[in-house]
Amino acid sequence: MKHSRRAFLEAGLALPAVVTSAPELTIERIPASAQTKDSSFDPWVEIHRENLRHNVQEISRRVAARPILAVIKNNGYGTGVTNIAQLLEPQSELLGFAVVKLHEAISLRDVGIRKPILLLGPLDEQNLADAVGRNILPMVYTPLGPALDKIAAKTQKPVPLHICIDTGIGRVGVPYHQAAPLVRDLAARKSVRIQGTMMTFTEDPDFDKEQLRRFNETCSSLEKDGIALGKKHTASSFALFQHPDAFFDVVRPGMAIYGIYSENEFRHTGVLDLRPAISLKARVIYTKKLRKGDSAGYNRAYLAKDDVWVATLPVGHADGWPRVAAKGAKVRINGDLYPVIASVSASHCIVEIGSEEKVKIGDTAVFFDAQTGSRPEDVSESCGASVYDLTMHLNPLLPRRII
Ligand SMILES: Cc1ncc(COP(=O)(O)O)c(C=O)c1O
Repeated sequence: MKHSRRAFLEAGLALPAVVTSAPELTIERIPASAQTKDSSFDPWVEIHRENLRHNVQEISRRVAARPILAVIKNNGYGTGVTNIAQLLEPQSELLGFAVVKLHEAISLRDVGIRKPILLLGPLDEQNLADAVGRNILPMVYTPLGPALDKIAAKTQKPVPLHICIDTGIGRVGVPYHQAAPLVRDLAARKSVRIQGTMMTFTEDPDFDKEQLRRFNETCSSLEKDGIALGKKHTASSFALFQHPDAFFDVVRPGMAIYGIYSENEFRHTGVLDLRPAISLKARVIYTKKLRKGDSAGYNRAYLAKDDVWVATLPVGHADGWPRVAAKGAKVRINGDLYPVIASVSASHCIVEIGSEEKVKIGDTAVFFDAQTGSRPEDVSESCGASVYDLTMHLNPLLPRRII
């Protein structure tokens, strides 16, 4: 079963983090007033710095040391956009970062990120000027030439930008068959420096080949006329596994950086050794023994077939734990995996412990982490939640702890 494609929640906040072992980082901390209001039972997200470092090195090895443009949109795939940028920036393999929301790009500059930031999201003229003013690279695919002229006239230097060509994904990007006039127009302006040219695969293996052909053909016909397209980039995590012929000058992965296989079938290919760098944890808030016939969950979604111990966990769909988790996901407590039962409500879920009281209030429950059996891909496989939903839908207000 294929679960890994995404349904993006475009909810990127710059997050506070609790740094457990990184005093040298200038990561935002939770204000003391908020910290005192956190219950020790509240769920938290852990970000594993060593696994992040490992994943970046693995990707670099796979792409023969081509520079990596790390996609950290949607709140850094749940890690916190500023946290992740600060953790990754020192790694020499990284060329820079890509985000979708202007406020995410600005928050990166606000915390002192210096590497290039490519903004994949939409911009009006004022946004464009603001972005350029903060040294943020716009991704351009509409006739913005006159606006770019105005900005360059003010700043007295050309605006560096990347051009996005749509070779079949049909969302943003100038359609490849209409790209030439736009690119020629931009290239002819003194106000513009084309620093990169990009496209996005649909990740349909057969159609990807056609997309690559369209991209190559469009680029080479422009290059034949002497137009410099800058660094070309097309490769997301999927392409790292599937399309070595599409690595070009720079690669542009997101999910692989966080150590998660974007498709479950990539796990056993040996192409990349990825180690999850995001965990979701909480503490057991209550245990009880249900008697045979007792119910649990709204609409009595669960009926005990026998006397059985259950544990209540303070994590629900408002925290980002998907409702579908009640259809097969397991949570690890004290080393054992227990099934999520009944239904996932906004702030709670329930796991079935069995005939013995093996779990007590205060024990740590792991919803996903880097261990086999409780990796995000395992949760995805067991209940059908996409790994993109598991990470990107994590409530931005949950505390982040960097370990
Ligand atoms: C334009 C673009 N490039 C790269 C990526 C990274 O994708 P992935 O997380 O699958 O590596 C994304 C994310 O969807 C994207 O929108």
